[in-house]
Amino acid sequence: MFLTGTMLINSQNHLEIGGCDTTELAGEFATPLYVMDEELIRSNCAEYKEAFARFYPHSLVAYAGKAFLTTAMCRLVEEEGLALDVVSGGEIYTALEAGFPPEKMIFHGNNKTAEEIRLALENNIGCFVADSFTELELLEEEAAAAGKRAAVYLRVKPGIEAHTHHYIQTGQTDSKFGLGLADGQALAAVKKALKMKHLDLRGLHCHIGSQIFDLKPFRLAAGVMMDFIKEIKDKTSFVIGELDLGGGFGIRYRQSDEPCKLSAYVQEITLVVREKAAEYNLPLPKLLVEPGRSIVGEAGTTLYTVGTIKEIPGIRCYAAVDGGMNDNLRTALYEAKYEAILANRAGDAAEKVYTVAGRACESGDILIHDIKLPELRRGDLLAVLSTGAYHYPMANNYNRFPRPAVVFVRDGRADIVVRRETYADILRNDVIPARMAR
Ligand code: LLP
Repeated sequence: MFLTGTMLINSQNHLEIGGCDTTELAGEFATPLYVMDEELIRSNCAEYKEAFARFYPHSLVAYAGKAFLTTAMCRLVEEEGLALDVVSGGEIYTALEAGFPPEKMIFHGNNKTAEEIRLALENNIGCFVADSFTELELLEEEAAAAGKRAAVYLRVKPGIEAHTHHYIQTGQTDSKFGLGLADGQALAAVKKALKMKHLDLRGLHCHIGSQIFDLKPFRLAAGVMMDFIKEIKDKTSFVIGELDLGGGFGIRYRQSDEPCKLSAYVQEITLVVREKAAEYNLPLPKLLVEPGRSIVGEAGTTLYTVGTIKEIPGIRCYAAVDGGMNDNLRTALYEAKYEAILANRAGDAAEKVYTVAGRACESGDILIHDIKLPELRRGDLLAVLSTGAYHYPMANNYNRFPRPAVVFVRDGRADIVVRRETYADILRNDVIPARMAR
């Protein structure tokens, strides 16, 4: 068991987050409930900003909204002085409604629609990350129609793919995202973009994967991208001024996970950029990163109420909770592993092994395989840790379960930032055709 951020076990033996007793949160807001430790999110933002201010001031940290985005989160990101990476009309709309400055948004996606591009152009979004030749053409058309010049980065596949603890460096570029270096597509796209009247090619972008603990693939990617900036200069005499190295910094889901230090990551990637710039006699590019998980992941905890406990003699004991793959799709999709704390008896000794099951009609709906916990009873409160990134955004209504509420907790206050869905919300888009009317 490990505690993150402002978590502690209080004098009543309850788990407390942000000065709020989790049993009281469950009483007030019901379960399942996503609890976000606001102070930890803010300190993570600050840590990124400070590390870049120290090692490479000519930089910008853009929070990757896909990890967790709501209007309140947009406010927080703005208050902490970060830019925002958005990937859809829905994310842009969310940020605009929250009053987030459009010029601080970077618009990603491998298949942006014309409508989304128009929405972004009308609202003067800061920058588009173009992902293909098709998109360069579409952007040029739409920018021309709007009478604007759109700032563009090109998404490049650096040929390095990192999967959690491993990375592979290949010449092949079989991915739906970006344009290949090895096959010459990225260079061809740069040349194409440079010819387009309504596009202002500002920079390059890459993203090599997510939940990465090893610094080597990050260093390699930074180097490959600087090599490409030199190649572009040599072949076109155009000097790329901005470099976005994406997100991917890993977090702790379980006690045994050991992410590296954020300052080491920032120090090492910026060192590569500096060294290469000096070697190639290039100006230092403005450097961007787009962290998602490492800003919000460990700040999130999901509270569940334990229901059915089913002992299968000699095999295992299932403890079912009132959520599951509806609020945490990561276990079913990636076999992601989690730890949990019995929040209402947080300091009790763990004595029995359980399989924590969800309640969706799907055998794969298992939240945690084999976790040792104190003896569980119906009505107990289970807190699953590190559920702040890619949980709420990936929540779904399978089996028509309403999606949970989200609360921000801080200094003993709990504020709803997303209301719990009601059954009426689930029906809001259902239509009974007139011919079936009764
Ligand atoms: N920038 C780009 C272009 C990305 O594609 C991503 C994540 C990020 C930034 C943020 O990466 P982060 O710092 O959060 O690792 N649903 C999966 C993760 C998908 C990540 C997609 N791209 C999961 O739950 O593990």
